[in-house]
Amino acid sequence: MKKGKVIVIEGVDGAGKTTQINLLKEILNPEENIFLKEPGSTKSGQEIRRVILDNDLDAKTEVMLFYSARNELILKEILTALERGQNVIIDRFELSTWAYQVYGRQRPDLASFIENLSREIIPENLVDKYYFFDLDVEISKERERSRDEATSRFDAQGVEFFNRVRGGYKKEIMRYPHQIIDASKSLEEVTEVFQKDLLNFLK
Ligand code: TYD
Repeated sequence: MKKGKVIVIEGVDGAGKTTQINLLKEILNPEENIFLKEPGSTKSGQEIRRVILDNDLDAKTEVMLFYSARNELILKEILTALERGQNVIIDRFELSTWAYQVYGRQRPDLASFIENLSREIIPENLVDKYYFFDLDVEISKERERSRDEATSRFDAQGVEFFNRVRGGYKKEIMRYPHQIIDASKSLEEVTEVFQKDLLNFLK
């Protein structure tokens, strides 16, 4: 029987997902809550992440690699944490694959392939709630530019790509229990809305 809750945090690059996760780490008890990142939380996941980001791959290959990392994350980290009674907060999950590979990369032909992989790999109703940080793509790109970080293969995509990703998120999130957070508000407002909802949900 599942004890802890699984929460997924999603957003287009630059929408404030990482900032909010860092703030959450400061207020949640680390004994009761574990933070994971897709695809980088396991050693194999980090290696898979490098393969994905460093190579020009077909979107179907990317899907298989993301699901490989996801399978390891579920088996090695998520299920064991839930067994221990911890809540699991994950930076990205399946919804990212829909948004980036199906919508961003414009591969609707991959939908049934992803659905089948998902059925095989993801335990039913694993995720209790998805949060999506929603922000105008031009603004998130601007925020990304102002940060001094190395850009990945996906970061380098143009506004049209990220508009498709954003649209994909908003459409596909409807299939899951979710909350869309308006990330255009001030940091204080976004933090308050998000943390209030999450803390209430975790009670
Ligand atoms: P990373 O630097 O780990 O992302 P971030 O810190 O923005 O979460 O790079 C992961 C990139 O991979 C990111 O641009 C989103 C993309 N991605 C997909 O395309 N499909 C997926 O299923 C996942 C999990 C991520």
